Amino acid sequence: MTDPVVYAVQDGVAILTVENPPVNALSQGVRAGLIGGLDKADADARVNAVVIIGGGRTFIAGADIREFGKPPSQPYLPQVLERIEAMKKPVVAALHGTALGGGFEVALTCHWRVAVESAQVGLPEVKLGVIPGSGGTQRLPRLIGPKLALDMIVPGNPIPARKALELGVLDEIVSGDLRAGAVGFARRVVAEKRPLRLVRDMNEKVSNVDPALFEEYRKSIARKAKGFLAPWHCIDAVEAATKLPIDEGLKKEREYFFECMDSPQRKAQIHAFFAEREAQKIPDLPADVKPKPIKSAAVVGAGTMGGGIAMNFANAGIPVKILEVSQEALSRGLGVIEKNYATSVQRGSMKQEAMDRAMKLISGTQRYEDIGEADIVVEAVFEEMAVKKEVFAKLDKTMKPGAVLATNTSTLDIDEIAASTKRPQDVIGTHFFSPANVMKLLENVRGAKSSPETIATVMALGKTLKKVPVLAGNCDGFIGNRMLHGYLREANFLLEEGATPQQVDQALEEFGLAMGPFRMSDLAGLDVGWRIRKGKAHLRPKDERYSPVADRLCEMGRFGQKTGAGFYRYEGRTPHPDPAVEDVIRQSAKEQGIERRQISAEEIVQRCMYPLVNEGAKILEEGIAIRASDIDIVYLFGYGFPVYRGGPMFWAEQIGLDKVLATIRGFHKIHGKFWEPAKLLVERAEAGKGWNDR
Ligand code: COA
Repeated sequence: MTDPVVYAVQDGVAILTVENPPVNALSQGVRAGLIGGLDKADADARVNAVVIIGGGRTFIAGADIREFGKPPSQPYLPQVLERIEAMKKPVVAALHGTALGGGFEVALTCHWRVAVESAQVGLPEVKLGVIPGSGGTQRLPRLIGPKLALDMIVPGNPIPARKALELGVLDEIVSGDLRAGAVGFARRVVAEKRPLRLVRDMNEKVSNVDPALFEEYRKSIARKAKGFLAPWHCIDAVEAATKLPIDEGLKKEREYFFECMDSPQRKAQIHAFFAEREAQKIPDLPADVKPKPIKSAAVVGAGTMGGGIAMNFANAGIPVKILEVSQEALSRGLGVIEKNYATSVQRGSMKQEAMDRAMKLISGTQRYEDIGEADIVVEAVFEEMAVKKEVFAKLDKTMKPGAVLATNTSTLDIDEIAASTKRPQDVIGTHFFSPANVMKLLENVRGAKSSPETIATVMALGKTLKKVPVLAGNCDGFIGNRMLHGYLREANFLLEEGATPQQVDQALEEFGLAMGPFRMSDLAGLDVGWRIRKGKAHLRPKDERYSPVADRLCEMGRFGQKTGAGFYRYEGRTPHPDPAVEDVIRQSAKEQGIERRQISAEEIVQRCMYPLVNEGAKILEEGIAIRASDIDIVYLFGYGFPVYRGGPMFWAEQIGLDKVLATIRGFHKIHGKFWEPAKLLVERAEAGKGWNDR
């Protein structure tokens, strides 16, 4: 094993190269190695300047997240930074790849910063539930002013080198070899006898700052950051930089940092970080299986989903043909796509040139022969088995051999769809979420015969399309929608038992969901579920409790927002409680002999959320999800589950599976068979284990 920090001297410059693959995280060895290297450079008579650089694909990409929550070990990062600031010889940070978090804080402490054009810098700690804890919130405002610092720290998005140079974060962009460029820069600094520049001494930009800046900033994030701890402390810490001398500010920052570090939110967000990466790993795929290259795509169906899916391909630079049987539907679909892009341009989230580029990559056709050469085709037609089978039979005849035949079904049997082709190995589910050009989740669904190559291709495709892909097995509703069933059922039962739609929505929005079930149903349209329920009515056992409330609202023509009324009455998009709905609910309760009562917010959350956990356990037990954390990813990226709770399965573990089980058993006694505890939940809870414990 090589040293985590390698020391070399070239032309009078000591080069400290961090070698801690894959991303040069600041583990204990790296921290100690940096201090050791600086001590050595200080004492080395040959050396009159120092360059800190990363080996491999990146500069230091941050603290070692795997050390979070464990007892900290010496030397701490602030000690490394103190050592840099104590250097009498100039220290230059040489950046490539991603200089993030603690890595960027190291760079901010150096006297100068140079980078290659492709580098990115940033403080993404907020995404992990913490704030920069080693001076980022104190030094960055001193360098670029508090407003720009807030813009980088609060959303946590990195910025490209060119922008960093413009802002004054970087001192130079190196073209060509970074190491040589940085050594050259360091030698120039020495030759010109430039005085050492420490960011800690730059106080001009943090003096006389109007406190209103911070109040306004707080207001501007109020909606998005609701429920989170870290974004607020990011602002508090930057504000402290404008009020306190640096050493006191650093202390304050550290306090906020540890408060976040000790919070359950940090644990949940770190869980989400690793879960997202873990989800990419498919244990039963042979190591040598390679995804097929996707250079062209086709989408069947130009409706809302089809159009959104096509936009994904175009955004990723992949030409895509949309097939639609009628010219009218095709033109309408293409028109919607253009309008969606135009809205993004108007809002400033997309450049006109990017829109033009994307639109050029999208074309329409009415003939299957025209899409035959595409590497992948995604079917996004009406959610009905007969229609899907017909489409796949046609695709089987027209698509070139080896093309991936994907279906965007959200519930239907992949194997039955695959059976309408002679190449079931190439058939797979790619379940996008609406709006497909926005939502991050891609729930890939493997059929019994999907080949490893097909699976690998759609997982890689997810990354190409900048989605978060998760692999599910084939069952009714797969992972996400199968779990949603119980959630919606209980929300509806709660109405009959005494809650109002607004009480249920409010309790779940307080819990952290972006939107409660009734506002969400009204937005999505109640008619879709109504149609599905009517189709499945004959399968429902007669003695099973069933809430007819939603059906009755539909019978009244209340399909949700689009008809101005659903579970609420709408003025524009604003929902108002509606006595007419209350009547329907009361009537339904009366018919079923349900006595209405006061229902607490706690019960609402448990009644709606525990079915997710219980069904999740069944999904895990059946192998539909590979691991519990995959289920969390589905809910975080596809269903607006609050990231600071880590996903339903993680959340349940934090409560304690034994406690969750006890509550579920209580509900089972009162409400009957829907609450039959999952075998796996019982097994894990009774053994005192979590989902992953062996
Ligand atoms: N600490 C420990 N491990 C880390 C890490 C960190 N800071 N950053 C990344 N890794 C690990 C990942 O878990 C992954 O491990 P795996 O291969 O075992 O799954 C591996 O490094 C590669 O990361 P990945 O995200 O898959 O690579 P990428 O090239 O797509 O992205 C980064 C690289 C650095 C941009 C991305 O990993 C990232 O954003 N990391 C977090 C940076 C951060 O938040 N730093 C501040 C910490 S306070």
